[in-house]
Amino acid sequence: MTAPKILPILRYPDPRLHTVAKPVGAIDQRIRSLIDDMLLTMYDANGIGLAATQVNVHERLVIIDVSEERDAPLVLINPEITWASPEKQKAEEGCLSVPEIYDGVERSVAVKVTALDANGTTQQIEAEGLLAVCIQHELDHLLGKVFVEYLSPLKRNRIKTKLAKVARDDKR
Ligand code: NI
Repeated sequence: MTAPKILPILRYPDPRLHTVAKPVGAIDQRIRSLIDDMLLTMYDANGIGLAATQVNVHERLVIIDVSEERDAPLVLINPEITWASPEKQKAEEGCLSVPEIYDGVERSVAVKVTALDANGTTQQIEAEGLLAVCIQHELDHLLGKVFVEYLSPLKRNRIKTKLAKVARDDKR
């Protein structure tokens, strides 16, 4: 077995972020290694969630950890939202693929999700608050959707300009 490694994270507006993910087939060694790599990548970047899409793997897998101690990873394989509350709330979001940008997005305040865990066991999750927001944000990634697409075209263009500058500064 190889040690987990930090994976490069795609940055908006990389067109690969708009790929629609396919379901995970077998939860084999390849998927288990990918989960380990994604966990290391998310914790290293101080994120609370990461979708496989963001590391250029287009399969339905996301990891989340909204705990204070950063020691309660949630692995969601082939997740589906089975219920979303009609009640919605706007909260500030960020994304590892959109560095340094934070803005308000309206989401359901509570959701129910069915997914497989890393052992292939079906789990039912009822989430509210930050976890509910994070689940909706990460599942959007699997559909090729980045949170800035909820913002106005004007804001989105400003973000593209700013990120192009960030990318240029990184190369220096
Ligand atoms: Ni994101």
